[in-house]
Amino acid sequence: MLVAPSILSADFGILNDEIKAICDGGCDLIHVDVMDGHFVPNMTIGPVVVNSVGAIATKPLDIHLMVEDNNFFIDLFSHLKPKYISFHIESERHPHRVIQKLRALDIKPAIVLNPHSTPESIEYLLEDLDMVLLMSVNPGFGGQKFITSVVEKAQKLKSLIDKRNPNCLIQVDGGVNDKNILELKDAGVDVVVAGSYVYGASDYSKAIKSLQI
Ligand code: DX5
Ligand code: ZN
Repeated sequence: MLVAPSILSADFGILNDEIKAICDGGCDLIHVDVMDGHFVPNMTIGPVVVNSVGAIATKPLDIHLMVEDNNFFIDLFSHLKPKYISFHIESERHPHRVIQKLRALDIKPAIVLNPHSTPESIEYLLEDLDMVLLMSVNPGFGGQKFITSVVEKAQKLKSLIDKRNPNCLIQVDGGVNDKNILELKDAGVDVVVAGSYVYGASDYSKAIKSLQI
């Protein structure tokens, strides 16, 4: 299991140290949550801070867009060469076009499904994707309770992925901790995002390793 700590739960007063700590602590990716106050009822960080994160990071960036205008934000962040940019199917009328744009920029495209969205709704995009991110909370805030139906959804998605594109990874984001990691692994999940679980721990490295099963 790959682990992507979400910096949303970091102490932004000492962001430099908080990013170094997860990189030195053995994380696989750095999950960067970008919100616009429209698609979700919260705002986080924009280009100034994300540029700083990119400059400090020694692990690849995994940028999660929770925005109305995906193209605008992709143009802001593409120069950082993130490994992944994920965007919500619910906010995009032309998802295939956005996937093509990300490919042309040499960024791995990922699509995010909110808790109500079905894996079948993206079946015909799977062959063009590197990852599907299943939300296990309503996007917008860290520290929320894990929505357990994501486990069944991951199983369904896994069977579609096996049929359409076995190289596509499954990521789960929201409320992930050492209590639900095993059932996520068993359901076929490859990557987990963990914000409050990692940044709320006294030893970040130990928390990261407890999820890398
Ligand atoms: C929620 C974000 C998550 C969040 C996860 O909108 O997409 O990445 O930071 O935080 P935890 O792990 O605390 O649920
Ligand atoms: Zn996220």
